[in-house]
Amino acid sequence: MWKTPVIIVNFKLYRQGSGDNAYSLLKTMEKVWEERGVSLIASLNPLDLGALRDKVNIPLMIQHADATDFGAFTGRINLEISKERGADGVLINHSEKRLNIADIDYLVEKAKSLGLVSVVCANNSRVSGALAFLKPNFIAMEPPELIGGDISVSKARPEAITETIEAVKSVADIPVLVGAGIKNREDVKRAMELGAQGVLVASGIVKAKNPEDALNDLIDGMM
Ligand code: G3P
Repeated sequence: MWKTPVIIVNFKLYRQGSGDNAYSLLKTMEKVWEERGVSLIASLNPLDLGALRDKVNIPLMIQHADATDFGAFTGRINLEISKERGADGVLINHSEKRLNIADIDYLVEKAKSLGLVSVVCANNSRVSGALAFLKPNFIAMEPPELIGGDISVSKARPEAITETIEAVKSVADIPVLVGAGIKNREDVKRAMELGAQGVLVASGIVKAKNPEDALNDLIDGMM
């Protein structure tokens, strides 16, 4: 389990976060992680995770896994091989890779049995509350319409954050992360004032002109 507060940087399939660029972004994250002592986790595609695992020390998570064991499954990836390749955690049900609830349940349970940290994404407070019954390690709420934009969930939908935290807490004591449009320290500070225990961010770091400055700015919002 990762200590909170936490910043998960989802590299998605941005050019700036893939291949050689993924390596340099990970090195930047590692530097900031060592300097600031805040939990920084990178969420990578499976190819980069396998190739880069041994080159950095920060925790890495896989952006998606299929709810499947080994077998005759073409084009899929499971948690067992993700773990073997060095994943520390898994992002489940991201808005850009949604799953049905039976698959989410399978993945949360499988992650638990393999010792992987599970971060289950939800698009609103109601879905967050429902997914809390599956007892993942984290729930990450992101309004899909704000993902990739310049207005953060903290500014545009503060009530969605408080409603999510209430919905989750009424079911289980699971830390809530929020994401979508997070770009600066004010976004992080506001999210945490509202009760979030961290953020999930992509474009604000991966596409930043200076990712190191952008990361330090987000961390300043947590202090
Ligand atoms: O996984 C995090 C992501 O969906 C948020 O994206 O670009 O709005 O920070 P972004």
